[in-house]
Amino acid sequence: MTYETLPDQMRAALAYQWGSPENISIESSPMPTLEPDRVLVKVMAVGLNAADKHLLLGTPYIVRLQHGLRRRKDQRIGHDFAGIVVQMGEECSRLAVGDAVFGVDTGAVAEYVAPREKNLCLKPAAISWEHAAAIPISGCTAFQALDKAGVAPGMHVLIHGGSGGVGTAAVQLAKARGGTVTATCSAANRDLVASLGADTVLDYRARDPLAVTHPYDAILDVGGNLKNRRAANSLVPGGSMIKIGYSGGNWLGPIVQLGTHYAVNIGTAGTMHMFLASTPLDVLEQLIALVSEGKFIPPVERVYPFEQTQEAYTRLVSGRTVGKSVIRIGSDT
Ligand SMILES: NC(=O)c1ccc[n+]([C@@H]2O[C@H](COP(=O)([O-])OP(=O)(O)OC[C@H]3O[C@@H](n4cnc5c(N)ncnc54)[C@H](OP(=O)(O)O)[C@@H]3O)[C@@H](O)[C@H]2O)c1
Repeated sequence: MTYETLPDQMRAALAYQWGSPENISIESSPMPTLEPDRVLVKVMAVGLNAADKHLLLGTPYIVRLQHGLRRRKDQRIGHDFAGIVVQMGEECSRLAVGDAVFGVDTGAVAEYVAPREKNLCLKPAAISWEHAAAIPISGCTAFQALDKAGVAPGMHVLIHGGSGGVGTAAVQLAKARGGTVTATCSAANRDLVASLGADTVLDYRARDPLAVTHPYDAILDVGGNLKNRRAANSLVPGGSMIKIGYSGGNWLGPIVQLGTHYAVNIGTAGTMHMFLASTPLDVLEQLIALVSEGKFIPPVERVYPFEQTQEAYTRLVSGRTVGKSVIRIGSDT
């Protein structure tokens, strides 16, 4: 059963070369293949993440080992989306045609995607397409990082980089867990981060967040540029520092961090953990429940029409997005 007459072709944003957003073009493209365990979704909105930047620029360069040394092996772009189920694969029965859903799939900046049914979360009608599309990767990253650090009521958490997609989620989710939050950001974003509930907001260019008299129970290094040993020594004994972002350049940065983090932890008060997020259904369900309760609202900086995908990616590549950038694709009418 299908929702509406489906076209033979769709429009999709594609990039063939590694490099700048100028490489993105919107082209006529085949409809996604509907495998038995997948559903076809008409995309309404797409949320952008730092991962989309890395997969457009091909940086850090280790990205190219997996995704194409000279050119992008897969030309599709975008991951987080919200949309309407329009066709079901043969093995799918949990969802139904017409359901509003959100989740993650490669090539989300397109009129249709065909994600696995098991990974999709239902979207309540009261939550906008734009807000739902802004949740998956940054929301799950913040949620799982707070889990890994064991953040519980009364704990003092430092969120270094509190104004981007992951940071704005982390501030709100840490408060929802009953934590006391110190967050860093640029001076211009102080009011926004305070409005999300942060108890203390520091401009990281003017104040050193690790120069503290009372150690933190947990640190989320979203910016990725905290000195690792210093951060681990700014924790209570047994406290956790979760390394979410990376620094150190496009060649060896992430590899050096992976290779050296065990040594970082020798003799420090707390422990630094390397971290890789995923987007499981049970976490998406907990996040949408928090959104419904008003405890987590992803701040959307700007909604770009599909035709302005290059502009949306230019903002993403700037590394200065405040909250989330969203691309609107389908219309409700
Ligand atoms: N490990 C994982 O599984 C995982 C998952 C998701 C994301 N990440 C990583 O997490 C990082 C953030 O991702 P995102 O999607 O939230 O990116 P984003 O939305 O593009 O983050 C932009 C924010 O980063 C802040 N920022 C820029 N330079 C900074 C610095 N030197 N120190 C502190 N903050 C700085 C900016 O804040 P101001 O303008 O206020 O300075 C800006 O608001 C990225 O490095 C990404 O690769 C890792």
